[in-house]
Amino acid sequence: MAHTDPVKVGVLYSETGVTSSIESSQLFGTLFAIEQINHAGGINGREIVPVRYDPRSEPRVYSQLAERLITSDNVKVIFGCYMSSTRKAVIPVVERWNRLLFYSTLYEGFEFSEHLIYTGAAPNQNSVQLAEFMTSSFGPRVYLVGSDYIYPYESNRIMADLVSQHPGGEKVGERYVPLNASEEDFADVLADIRNVKPDFIFSTVVGNATQNFYRAYARAGFDPDKLPIGSLTTTEVEIAQMGGEIAAGHYTSAPYFQSIDSDLNRACLARFREGFGEQIAPNACWEAAYFQVHLFANAMRASGSDDIDALMPALLGASIDAPQGQVRIEPSNHHTSLYPRIGQANANGQFTILRETRNAVYPDPYLVAHSLGDWTLRMTPVEN
Ligand code: ACM
Repeated sequence: MAHTDPVKVGVLYSETGVTSSIESSQLFGTLFAIEQINHAGGINGREIVPVRYDPRSEPRVYSQLAERLITSDNVKVIFGCYMSSTRKAVIPVVERWNRLLFYSTLYEGFEFSEHLIYTGAAPNQNSVQLAEFMTSSFGPRVYLVGSDYIYPYESNRIMADLVSQHPGGEKVGERYVPLNASEEDFADVLADIRNVKPDFIFSTVVGNATQNFYRAYARAGFDPDKLPIGSLTTTEVEIAQMGGEIAAGHYTSAPYFQSIDSDLNRACLARFREGFGEQIAPNACWEAAYFQVHLFANAMRASGSDDIDALMPALLGASIDAPQGQVRIEPSNHHTSLYPRIGQANANGQFTILRETRNAVYPDPYLVAHSLGDWTLRMTPVEN
């Protein structure tokens, strides 16, 4: 009987390659949500069955596996991708086959597809707040360091623009390293930083190489009190890789940190650890990967179908109580209203939350309100 058939969904997160650690956390966030939904009776009695492949952090493999999920496995909805290069490889596939991709990673913005739902932060939900915090706390001269692909180029361009709105603000250096950079690959960059003397560093280094940048920084004798690193991609996962001592004192801007002090977040973390243990460090990408599956299941309960044309009207405008707070998919741009936060890494491998918004911030992926000051009124310092 058709209405008791399982609902197959595609899951494309890399378990190997340069972003294996952060993507494994997204995979486990996804499986956690699927398990919860199935345990509570599935989608109108139908079990969700994940069909998962390892795209090995390679854009070409993402595109091939998305095609396989759609044409051989017959899935209608795919959850996946971390690097923007991999999302851009999957978009033409879901567009060609009229399928839907849920993307749970912060990214550079300036994109829209009818076939995507974006649940990670757009630049107005993380970069704007980080630029304001770093320039007002440390000074306006920024040095940009990134991995060599599209997200870092674009995110660095946005950061340079934002900083230039601050009096005296300027980009004083910009360097890129390979995605698989070793500690040694950062030696030249750090020598240049020592020379140029920026007020802060903005890191768009991603994935498993992140630990090597922070280690090389520490080994070179820099002090986070004087020249901190600010980032959007250094999460609890990368900190677990480098160790709390190396990360302590640096800053990350994200809508979710494990340390959020709410009943809902604590209960969610406890349930996750019961089922999945301690091997994965929950983080902003994990959280978005988790809540977006619940948004999908709720929409499919209402629409009765996983067909994109039936699902989309139920998804647009949908909200859910996520661990970060109540989030909502905005119908005008398919991105999600989220809660910007600034965290400072501490020696325990966690973030001390220094600022957070009281209300969810509407996603503005094209940075129409492209200004440093706009969000500061909504940011409230957290009493510690
Ligand atoms: C990213 O590539 N969107 C982190």
